[in-house]
Amino acid sequence: MTVTEETAPASHYDRIGGASSVKAAVELFYDKVLVDPELAGYFSDVDMVGQRRHLALMLTTVLGGPDGYTGRGLAEAHQPLNIPVEHYAKVGEHLTVTLAELGVPADILADVQAVLGQVQDQVVARENRSGA
Ligand code: HEM
Repeated sequence: MTVTEETAPASHYDRIGGASSVKAAVELFYDKVLVDPELAGYFSDVDMVGQRRHLALMLTTVLGGPDGYTGRGLAEAHQPLNIPVEHYAKVGEHLTVTLAELGVPADILADVQAVLGQVQDQVVARENRSGA
C-alpha cells in the first residue's frame, strides 16, 4: 500500500462498506429499475449478468469507487440508446432511494446527486438535452 492510499480520505465507496455493500445495493436497485415499465425496455436485450454489472458500475462510478472499468466510455455506451432526460432522472431517483434505504448518509447522497448532474450530458442523448 502506498503512502497516498494510507493517508487519502476514504472514498464514499469505502465509507459505505465497499464491494459487498455495492453488491447489496445492486440487488435493491435492480428490483426498482428492472420492474419500472418505463425503464425495463432498455435492458431487455441485455443478459442478467450484464444488467447487474451495469448497475454495479453505475453505483461504483457515482460513489467514486475503484475505477477498474475498461469498457466503453459513458457517451459511447449510451448515446445510441436515445435516453431522454426523464428516464435519466428516474434511474437517478431509483439510485438515490436505494442508497437512502440502505442508510447511506446525507453528505454522500448529496455528492451522488452532484455526480449524476456531472455525467448526465454523456448519458442523455444529445438531441434530448435541454438547451441543446
Ligand atoms: C450515472 C449514470 C450511468 C452510468 C454511470 C452508467 C454506466 C454504464 C456503463 C459503464 C456502461 C457500459 C457497459 C459496457 O459497455 O460494458 C453502460 C451501458 C448501458 N447503460 Fe448505463 N449508465 C448510466 C445510466 C444509464 C441509464 C439512465 C440507462 C437507461 C435508462 C442506462 C442503460 C444502459 C444500457 C442499456 C447499457 C448497455 C448495456 C449493454 O449493452 O451491456 N444507463 N452504462
